[in-house]
Amino acid sequence: MTDPALTLNEFTAALGSFEAEAGPAVAAATEADALEAVRAKYLGRAHGWLKDLSAKLGQLPKADRAAAGAAFNEVRLRVEATLDARRVALAPVRDAGALADPTMPARETWPGGVHPVTQVIDEMIEIFRELGFTVALGPEAESPWYNFGSLNFPADHPAMDLHDTLYLSDDLVLRTHTSPVQVRTLQAYPPPIRVLIPGNVHRRDPFDASHAPTFAQVEGLVVDEGISFADLKATLTHFANRFFGATKTRFRPSYFPFTEPSAEMDVLCGVCRGSGCGVCKQSGWIEILGSGLVHPAVLESAGVDSEKYTGWAFGMGPARTALARHGIPDIRLLYDSDVRFLGQFAK
Ligand code: PHE
Repeated sequence: MTDPALTLNEFTAALGSFEAEAGPAVAAATEADALEAVRAKYLGRAHGWLKDLSAKLGQLPKADRAAAGAAFNEVRLRVEATLDARRVALAPVRDAGALADPTMPARETWPGGVHPVTQVIDEMIEIFRELGFTVALGPEAESPWYNFGSLNFPADHPAMDLHDTLYLSDDLVLRTHTSPVQVRTLQAYPPPIRVLIPGNVHRRDPFDASHAPTFAQVEGLVVDEGISFADLKATLTHFANRFFGATKTRFRPSYFPFTEPSAEMDVLCGVCRGSGCGVCKQSGWIEILGSGLVHPAVLESAGVDSEKYTGWAFGMGPARTALARHGIPDIRLLYDSDVRFLGQFAK
């Protein structure tokens, strides 16, 4: 037995009366329970009016079904929207007491803010991006070869001691700097290359006013033909002036196994402007990064021809830089997650 077929006109009329009845019924409901009964009657999945209509769709001639289905969906969405709006209108007013007493204090809101260390990293990326640098990342759990060997550390270098480095196993360490990503990046992307490498690093250091056992670093690496120390100096000086506002920098000779020659860069203390204060330990200068020309042995570790290419690199601690920028006397303040302190720098 099949039902007698329905015509499109009959279906459209049924749809029209459905909407004509459902709309006023929704409006007439004055509380949530009554509204729920209206919903069940008209839109209920089990035996609502809508369900009957959708069964009728199947009785239409095949050629009419697509148009009828579209009309059906439009009406359904309209009735659902009316019902939802009514539900919101009937919802009990939250916190009616507060409305009754307009002298109650406003609810406190807690907007988030970018951490001062993250702000330094973001700004660095922005400044170097303008100079054509992109961003590269590497793993925090690193092989001793990438962390030390590939970077020209001699086999008995003291940094590799258990005292200084956290070993996860014989062949896995928590990277002590972002420099291993220099080699990883050069292996993946042949020169010319200009990258910035932000990331966390770990050392077996005590947590004191100027050291944290886990801290962020930002590494920079440039490798191309004809790169010299003048490029290093010009770029890092440009960065310091952009970042701190016109300032003074100085380069002091230093030593790293993976750069030759090596230099540390100081900027004029932003707190005392050079006259000496507690933040710069009376020196007038704050050291913000280590740098140097990439050692040929490092280029060779990465499979780069050190006769053809030269490069420079730097490593900077954004937490130290945040201290220098804001005149904060103790690095632990940055890691305590005390919003009363951090909120002062929120952007
Ligand atoms: N990796 C060095 C450190 O952690 C910093 C550095 C990076 C120095 C690149 C020179 C070149 O102290």
